[in-house]
Amino acid sequence: MDEAALDLRGLLGALREGRAPEVGAIAAFVAAASAGRAPAESVGAFLALVFARGLGTEPLLELTRAMLHSGRVLSFEGLGRPVVDKHSTGGIGDKASLPLAPALAACGCAVPMISGRGLGHTGGTLDKLEAIPGFSTAVHPDHYRAQLESTGVVFGGQTADIAPADRLFYALRDVTGLVESIPLITSSILSKKLAEGLDVLVLDVKFGSGAFLPEVERGAELARAMVDVATGFGVRTVAWQTNMERPLGRTIGHSLEVEESVHCLTGRGPSDLRELVCLLGGEALALAGRAADNAEGRHRIARCLDDGSAFEVFARTVEAQGGDTGALFDPSRLPRTREVQVLGADRGGYVHFGDLRAFGRALLALGGGRQRVGDTIDPAVGFRLLCAEGDAVAEGQSLIEIHHTRRGLERAREELGRALLLRDEPPVPRPLALTRIA
Ligand code: URA
Repeated sequence: MDEAALDLRGLLGALREGRAPEVGAIAAFVAAASAGRAPAESVGAFLALVFARGLGTEPLLELTRAMLHSGRVLSFEGLGRPVVDKHSTGGIGDKASLPLAPALAACGCAVPMISGRGLGHTGGTLDKLEAIPGFSTAVHPDHYRAQLESTGVVFGGQTADIAPADRLFYALRDVTGLVESIPLITSSILSKKLAEGLDVLVLDVKFGSGAFLPEVERGAELARAMVDVATGFGVRTVAWQTNMERPLGRTIGHSLEVEESVHCLTGRGPSDLRELVCLLGGEALALAGRAADNAEGRHRIARCLDDGSAFEVFARTVEAQGGDTGALFDPSRLPRTREVQVLGADRGGYVHFGDLRAFGRALLALGGGRQRVGDTIDPAVGFRLLCAEGDAVAEGQSLIEIHHTRRGLERAREELGRALLLRDEPPVPRPLALTRIA
């Protein structure tokens, strides 16, 4: 669709009245906006109208396709392996991508994982990996194929030529309070993921106080929209709604999360992290035809965590991306704070998790989070939980380690008081995996 077909009034009028725009109108608009030829106020109006009025299935497919094709779309045809990825809406302590990508590669898939950085209360996969000394996530898209052939995994970041329309729209949404819209989130996430040239996509949509969209119903709506759109592009896709009412695993903070990921990759580590990796990995293997069904897929993922083959892929990928593989064997080579404070229970009771975002704010206070794009983070700071949801603890019992450099310690302790609670009654925890949406 060329610019001549751009009819701004017609497009915005249809959106305002809740009608489907003319076929091609959204594509023409996105092309003009990405080329800097649409007035800034029209981009704002477009985003605000989609936010307020929603978007039907066909227009949403058109929007996603236009955003995807605003930039480069990778293709791994002829690689001889299914091209697979997962996307998580993110949460506290969610480091599942680190063990999952190599586990999938160890089971015969190629995983060109393009991830984001942390912002606000959630951490980003790229930042976690960069806690490994020397690790570079600046992999040029021209180099993906060679690394997929050698290790099976690339951990890269979004480059300027991947979905530039999303970059433009997201920056505007961010400053105008238009982030939390199902069609805008769907097109944003999928325009980047589909640029990886995928055959299979597994989505992890979190619910709970630590999630991007806390309510189960809103998360289900997002999962449904993402599955429908990705499937519309011919990508075999499944979503799971998983629990972010408690942190994933026992660590929060970049270096500590790398260490915990290595434990998972060597058959150890917390059971919830392993369960999630096996669940999502099992789904991906079944969709990719590398397992007869997801039960067999789960079993295969578990085996390659236990037999060292997933760890071996991870180590080779770390090496390929310039990282110090010695740090995977010796955690003292990862960034560490000199000081660790242990918080004890101020009363006896059962462990509950309250406002999970408070963990994110506590990490931010210590210098381990990012308030603005471009802020630097300290990978060494963070928390190690010494208790789990529902544990009965006695007064004085150790609850959590704070790895700190003194900066923001008081503020972090205050926030932890909102995140980690002791009550007389035990909690009624919800399962790790709630609903499967296919
Ligand atoms: N993550 C994205 O990449 N885009 C959104 O719109 C929201 C979360």
